[in-house]
This record gives sequence, structure tokens and C-alpha cells, in this order.
Amino acid sequence: MQPTQDTILHMLRERPDDYVSGEAMCQALGVSRTAVWKHIKDLQDAGYQIEAVRNKGYRLLDSPDLVTAAEIREGLTTFLLGQNIVYRDTIDSTNNLAQQLAANGAPEGTLVIADEQTSGRGRRGRNWFSPPHSGVWMSLILRPNLPLAHAAQITLVAAVALARALTRLTGQTAGIKWPNDILFQKKKCCGILTEMEADHDQIHHLVVGIGINVNVPEEDFPEELSEIATSLQAVKGNKIPRAKVVQTVLAEFEPLYRRYVDNGGFASIRDDWKAQSITIGRDIVAQTAQGEIRGKALDIDEFGVLLVEKEDGQVAKIYSADILFA
Ligand code: BTN
Repeated sequence: MQPTQDTILHMLRERPDDYVSGEAMCQALGVSRTAVWKHIKDLQDAGYQIEAVRNKGYRLLDSPDLVTAAEIREGLTTFLLGQNIVYRDTIDSTNNLAQQLAANGAPEGTLVIADEQTSGRGRRGRNWFSPPHSGVWMSLILRPNLPLAHAAQITLVAAVALARALTRLTGQTAGIKWPNDILFQKKKCCGILTEMEADHDQIHHLVVGIGINVNVPEEDFPEELSEIATSLQAVKGNKIPRAKVVQTVLAEFEPLYRRYVDNGGFASIRDDWKAQSITIGRDIVAQTAQGEIRGKALDIDEFGVLLVEKEDGQVAKIYSADILFA
């Protein structure tokens, strides 16, 4: 969306119960009446319901469910995350574009977001179902001044923010399945894919990719996901504006991220993580690159490593795995 249209929308939103005259818009924008009218027409074509009344002006009646920069900015409460927003209608993967932008110096906190992904990626080379108009597919560029060994912990920090945000948005308790899944009951509605670049032993940048099924009706999931995936709409019983989902996630993430960076690691987030976890205390199967480990998830340590008590009583440290509940 062009900056002029952003400004028009902003002016209309400032006066929700009133008309904004064409003249006021011309003056604010320094453009002609015809230009204003054309921008209004473009906004209407994009789905905004704008009433035009002769001698009164324009009034915004309803907005479409978009995740454009203009929609996200309106009501954003953060100071770092999302101050720079890059939006695309369609993209292969927001993580790919975020990686490119980060390599070219995009500022910390840059949010890359798309309405649709054609090659959305999940962990371990899996696809991530990312249909248009119904999800939040976004990536954040972060530049924490932390050693490389800490990079994986950011997924855990993001998971706390997401579990809190999705609980607030739906009124139902969302839980974290270590390391990167957010579940309602036993079904996944959100995943995190963190990727990074490092200079020697220091993190150069991180890309935290977040996929949230927002307004996906459960029957729209492909066959292989139908038993294991859910959406906020299915959990709450009605649709939630996607821009509000983004704003809520960023608002939850920012203070946790600051605390994580200021304290130099996961230890300061650990109790919050445990409060949102549905992993600790469960019998699990950890599918690691070295094979399966069965046992009870005992705890998470100050580095974010999962501690699993095996059947023989020994405690295994799990650094990376897919977890199945036994
Ligand atoms: C997983 O649970 O396996 C991780 C899923 C991560 C999906 C998000 S959607 C936005 C970003 N872009 C991608 O290609 N993947 C992540």
C-alpha cells in the first residue's frame, strides 16, 4: 500500500463516526481532489468499505482482514519489533526474504509478512501450509549480541510470547510443546522456525519465522494435517483480525526478548517458559538425529535443554528433537 493511502486510512480511522472532507485530505496530502478520489477507489478495490457523501466527504465503515503494513501499524504498541514492516501479497517464504534483507543490513526488529507463502518451510525440511487470507506468516529479524550457542534459545523465548498471545486472543489456554510448537489441547496451531547467520562465535542475525493458523476453517486443512492441526478460529469459534494477532504477538515478544538479551540468556525466561509448558511431566518420545529416546520429560535447564528421565533411570539431555507425547 502506498504511503498516501496509509495516510488516508489513518485520517479516516481518527474520525470513525464522522466524515473526513475531500478538501482536508487534499491539504494534508498536497494532492488534487481527483487524486484523493482515485486513492479512495483503490482502497475500496482492496476491500475497504468507504462511504462517499457529496458535500460531507468520506467515512470508513469496515476494513478487510489484511496484514499490510498500514493495518499492523494501526494499534502497534512496540518500540522495536515491527517498526520496519515489509509486506508482500505472495512470497515463497518470509524467512527467505528476511534472510536476504538481514544480510543487506535491515534493522533489528524488521518484520517481514505475507498474505500467502508458496513454499512455506517448517522444521526439518517439512512444508508449512500457508494459504492466502487466513494465516499469519511472518519473520522477524533480530540481532542479539549473544554467543552462537544461545541462538536456539530464541525459539523458546518466542514460544512463551506466542503461548501468552494466543491465550489472550482466544480465551483458551495455549501450551508449548518443546521446542517450537504451540498447541491447543493436542492440536498444533503455530510453529516457529529460527534460522541464523553467525560471524565466528557471535550471532550476526537471527530470523525467527512464525506461522499461525488464524482464520483457517478446520475442514480446509489438507488430509495429512486434519487430525493434528487447528486454528485460532476453530478454538475461539469466530474469526480474529490477523493484524490484531500480529500486534498481540509482538507486544508479548518485545519485553521477553529485551529481558532475554539484557540478562544474557534463557535462564531469565525459564520460569515463564515452564508456566506455559505442556511438556514437563509428560511421557514422551524424543526423535533425535541419533535415534529415539523414550522417557519422562523432567525439566528444562537454564540453557533450554530438555532433560528426560529414561526407563533405566538415567537422565538424557535433549538438544534438538521432535517430541511426541507417549
Ligand atoms: C514448524 O513448526 O515446523 C515451523 C513452522 C514455521 C512456519 C513459518 S511461516 C513464516 C516463516 N516462513 C517460513 O517459510 N516458515 C516460517
